[in-house]
Amino acid sequence: MALCNAATLQTATLGCVLVCVLSYLYLNGNVGGPEAYPLPSQHTKRLPPRLPPSHLPSPGPCTCANGSMLLKNVVPKNQAVELIKRREKEFQQHKARAESVLSTLLYAPSNSPLQYPIQGFKVRPMTPTFIPGLALHAEQRKNYTVSLKVSKGVLSTTIPAARAKVQGNGESRLMMESSSLETLNGLLANVSYTSTIYHIHTGDLATFQFEDHEGVFPITIKQPQPPVLYDMGKDINSQVTITTKTFLRYPQLKVLLKSIRQFYKDIEVIIADDSFVTENITGDHIQHYIMPPGKGWFAGRNLAVSQVTTKYILWVDDDFLFTKLTKIEEMVKVMEAVPELDVLGGKVGKDQFYSSLIYEEGDEMEGGCMYRKTRGKFHSLPGYPQCSVVSGVVNFFLARTDAVQRVGFDPQLKRVAHSEFFMDGLGSLMVATCGHVAIGHQKIHKQKGYMRFRQPAKSDTISKLQLHFFKNHLKCIRYG
Ligand SMILES: *[C@@H]1O[C@H](CO)[C@@H](O)[C@H](O)[C@H]1NC(C)=O
Ligand SMILES: *[C@@H]1O[C@H](CO)[C@@H](O)[C@H](O)[C@H]1NC(C)=O
Ligand SMILES: *[C@@H]1O[C@H](CO)[C@@H](O)[C@H](O)[C@H]1NC(C)=O
Ligand SMILES: *[C@@H]1O[C@H](CO)[C@@H](O)[C@H](O)[C@H]1NC(C)=O
Repeated sequence: MALCNAATLQTATLGCVLVCVLSYLYLNGNVGGPEAYPLPSQHTKRLPPRLPPSHLPSPGPCTCANGSMLLKNVVPKNQAVELIKRREKEFQQHKARAESVLSTLLYAPSNSPLQYPIQGFKVRPMTPTFIPGLALHAEQRKNYTVSLKVSKGVLSTTIPAARAKVQGNGESRLMMESSSLETLNGLLANVSYTSTIYHIHTGDLATFQFEDHEGVFPITIKQPQPPVLYDMGKDINSQVTITTKTFLRYPQLKVLLKSIRQFYKDIEVIIADDSFVTENITGDHIQHYIMPPGKGWFAGRNLAVSQVTTKYILWVDDDFLFTKLTKIEEMVKVMEAVPELDVLGGKVGKDQFYSSLIYEEGDEMEGGCMYRKTRGKFHSLPGYPQCSVVSGVVNFFLARTDAVQRVGFDPQLKRVAHSEFFMDGLGSLMVATCGHVAIGHQKIHKQKGYMRFRQPAKSDTISKLQLHFFKNHLKCIRYG
């Protein structure tokens, strides 16, 4: 008698004693002889002493860190109502795309005779798949009846042998009954699930029931994705493409290119250029893309990155300078050794800028709270004490091409942008920074024309904050 072992009885509360007595009578099925097989409704008292909550409490509004910018204040007052309505609609669509029943909170019931998979049961859409591990471990009965219920598919098992009955074969609710536990378990072992919907990634919840025991387990419905692999080739030139964006800074760009060639003779360099008056940049392994003038910083980054065919991108600014310490191979080595990494930053000059992002989703209506902590880091990269796991790095980084292309650089950000890429990529990019690889920075030449365009206008800062309000569904942001 599993339910009423000595330990339970010793520490039992009155409630537990009641439960044990009732379940003793119940499990032995001898309340008034074999015909009076008790229905669960007569035994609703036999509930676990403390029912776990069926939902986690909603996280509620997040708290804006001290010094945060309240983003509602940057939205023009006369547009606020409409804008919030549109944001709400987009957010609900985002939730529908990002969430599924797979995030439902599920509990394993105590003392359950039901056996079922609790994680990892994955099916392809509309493809029959055996449910592994289904079984019943019950005390002796005259008759065993179990049922399984799903909502986005159908269940089938084999046509039963004698001494067994199956109802709902090929439907969403399957009942199996037998006087032999062995036969019933044979039927359970043969149950398959077929989703009736095509979806690339969603889930179903299966309810498995025996008398008043119930277990719920998730079924992942997922269209497998073919991998997209890069052939690394044999040397650095087939592994990495250097990308940069230039705007009215040809002298600096030429110095950069010369320094690259000093260390990497044949590496591919991609330049996105939105200067007003363009110059020709030519040479072997140089791709110079001329954009409409003034398209902006992130638009240029996007263009450059879109043309890369190697596994890795090395991002540099047009006024950087390759030095002995600019060892791309070192960065590739770390990325190859830790394949979960997407972005690996280094030092610019003596500075190793990096940041951590603290983000809470907050309340559905209000939005989330973002806090960028300059020089915030999580911990050192296992095996690489000179590297740390962070959320964002400087403009000198090696990155997986596919990861960067997936996040993309929002072309709405024309001038004041950098951390925004890492904010958009938070939760999808694994970022680290290393102190043992560095690039130089050319001496600053103040260029009148350049500074005029590069310096953020106040309107740019405001439109960036407005973008965070809507696009990132933020309530407030703090730059620390
Ligand atoms: C924020 O500022 C308030 C008042 O200045 C202070 O009491 C509080 O401790 C600060 N909170 C944090 C997290 O720094
Ligand atoms: C077996 O039990 C189920 C439910 O407890 C009942 O509906 C069914 O009639 C029983 N079958 C037999 C053959 O006793
Ligand atoms: C389960 O399927 C196997 C293979 O089809 C079959 O041999 C076996 O009899 C089935 N079990 C039951 C209980 O129907
Ligand atoms: C750049 O190259 C194009 C095509 O070769 C040529 O027509 C143009 O005159 C060149 N521009 C400059 C500024 O040299």
